[in-house]
Amino acid sequence: MKYAIITGASKGLGEAIAKRLIQEQIAVVSVSRTENEEIKSLAIKQGIDYKHLSCNLSLEKEVQEVFMEIAHCIFQKDPEEILLFNNAGVIDPIQKVGNLDQTPIISNIQVNLIAPILITNLFFNKAQLTNTKVTVVNVSSGAAIRSIEGWSVYCSSKAGLNMFTQTAALEQAELETSNKIIAFSPGVMDTNMQETIRSSSVEAFKDLEQFKEYKEKNMLLKADVVANALVDLVLSGEVESGKVYNIKDLLK
Ligand SMILES: NC(=O)c1ccc[n+]([C@@H]2O[C@H](COP(=O)([O-])OP(=O)(O)OC[C@H]3O[C@@H](n4cnc5c(N)ncnc54)[C@H](OP(=O)(O)O)[C@@H]3O)[C@@H](O)[C@H]2O)c1
Repeated sequence: MKYAIITGASKGLGEAIAKRLIQEQIAVVSVSRTENEEIKSLAIKQGIDYKHLSCNLSLEKEVQEVFMEIAHCIFQKDPEEILLFNNAGVIDPIQKVGNLDQTPIISNIQVNLIAPILITNLFFNKAQLTNTKVTVVNVSSGAAIRSIEGWSVYCSSKAGLNMFTQTAALEQAELETSNKIIAFSPGVMDTNMQETIRSSSVEAFKDLEQFKEYKEKNMLLKADVVANALVDLVLSGEVESGKVYNIKDLLK
């Protein structure tokens, strides 16, 4: 049996990934601060193994404890493959450097970069001991390779995530493991994160009007369209480890 662990499955892209994987008869472990009842009901209806664990990914101790528990449960089931989606992310703080508050800076890096590194490290470690294949998808952003004024912390965390992905992939290739790790840039999607962006101020975020226009002109991608393209790629067995995939290439 295949098992998927999805961070940030309560909303947005993570929710859409979870729903699609359940339809594909893949067991799902959802990790976020709140639980999505629709996912739970869908899993029960489809007779799929599903579990939600509450975790604040900005707190290192919680991340270590919760993911040790998940790894312990899953690896002992001798899974066919483990799919790990490091999807949870935060955009805040949206502000110019010089006016940033300290706490949101640290939370952003913890959720967007440190948690994915800690979790991937733990799962690759357990995979070595049990000979289980682990495929990691790190959800990145176009902001990883394009500077956006007001988003310095977010851009930095996602750039770091891309580099972590590429480096870990080189190591796994050198070790000749069956593990794969990719980054994925999902495009501009109609989720809560875009609401947060639209509620920022033009003083803090120069491109505010452009992002409001994306919504007004219906230019935002639907999370389920993005999730389906990503899951199709991951289940195709054609994943190229170390690659930073872009949704534009998958929807062609
Ligand atoms: N939306 C876009 O246009 C866009 C563009 C490029 C990249 N992305 C990336 O796509 C991914 C998904 O974004 P989205 O748009 O789906 O965002 P979203 O709708 O805001 O959902 C964010 C998810 O992350 C979880 N999360 C946030 N902080 C957390 C914390 N401290 N601990 C645990 N979970 C936390 C939330 O769960 P709880 O609140 O329940 O904890 C929620 O499930 C992110 O990595 C984002 O950077 C999004």
